[in-house]
Amino acid sequence: MKHIIVTMNNAVYFETTRVTSALHRIGAGFCGTVWSDIDIMPESVAIKREDGGQGRSLQNDSAIHQQLLKVYGSKSTHLFAIPLWHGYIFTDDTKELIHRFPQGYKPCNILLTERIPPLSEIVRRLLIDKYCPPALVSSIAADPNNHDCLVRPYLGKRRRHYTYSTFRVFSLRNFPLHLDQMQDLGLDIYEYAFRMAKALAFMHWSAQVDANDVEFVLAPAKDPALSMYSPALGDHCLWILDFDCCRPMAMDNVGLEQAARAFWRNDPFYPRPGKESEKDIRLWTHFKHSYLEASSNFIGPEDTRRQCLPDHLINIIEAGPLNSGHRCT
Ligand SMILES: Nc1ncnc2c1ncn2[C@@H]1O[C@H](COP(=O)(O)OP(=O)(O)O)[C@@H](O)[C@H]1O
Ligand SMILES: [Mg+2]
Repeated sequence: MKHIIVTMNNAVYFETTRVTSALHRIGAGFCGTVWSDIDIMPESVAIKREDGGQGRSLQNDSAIHQQLLKVYGSKSTHLFAIPLWHGYIFTDDTKELIHRFPQGYKPCNILLTERIPPLSEIVRRLLIDKYCPPALVSSIAADPNNHDCLVRPYLGKRRRHYTYSTFRVFSLRNFPLHLDQMQDLGLDIYEYAFRMAKALAFMHWSAQVDANDVEFVLAPAKDPALSMYSPALGDHCLWILDFDCCRPMAMDNVGLEQAARAFWRNDPFYPRPGKESEKDIRLWTHFKHSYLEASSNFIGPEDTRRQCLPDHLINIIEAGPLNSGHRCT
């Protein structure tokens, strides 16, 4: 992948270094920790530090993120959001920012993006009331970490046990909402499947990346055109984030296998083929048709060489998970 040079948003970086208050950790993954300003919504930034496991590349994260935004900007009818990209800062240039991290934190490479707004207190209360084990309710409700609430829509998974008695851990950060829970909350799973299919088709055929390990979250929309309303979640939209494991996808059989492995390896965001229940089969079929239609639109009728690829990819996915995974190294 060509690393696209986009000028850093200096105003955002300058403002972030100028403020003196401590940053607050809003997330962590294999690649590193993610930080933000407290209560400076809606302009908050997300600061991703490359302080996690070896072998992850924040620079790749940044490059793929820019690639997605560049292609996103040239098409108008998207139904999902991508955080804005503000800048990639090399370790040596992050000294002006280090005062905002807790003592002992060393400079490292940093990716500066738009923060995805957390879900509101009303939504957080609802999730706690419905799904938090009663013994944990008061500590979870009092824990300010749970203010950073994002919901992960797991259209590919139902809970096996509907009681929560066995769970000892509960967090509203990256709260996994399974299919049965979405239905219980009256959410439109077909609309989510449609939007997720369009997002995946966009990544494959517009941006030409494999979508490996990408995350989907439901969170408030910044752009009203993307917003969906439901009594349970209020106004919200589907966001995509975390691109450090994405790789360019060749427009051939090798690329298709790579994308199929990424599909099966990811957390169960997408509806999945091969389920037994009628309801799950219907959801997969809806996802598949939405994906194929969106793919065909992204590819365009004149590109006869690529027109057959989405169908092939769906066939490979429907054959089931492949044994050898494309590891993120
Ligand atoms: N732009 C953002 N806005 C809000 N939260 C974010 C943002 N980026 C990351 N996070 C939170 O931080 C977590 C870890 O970030 P992620 O990019 O997934 O790191 P990793 O590559 O290490 O998995 C995410 O799962 C999410 O909860
Ligand atoms: Mg992640």
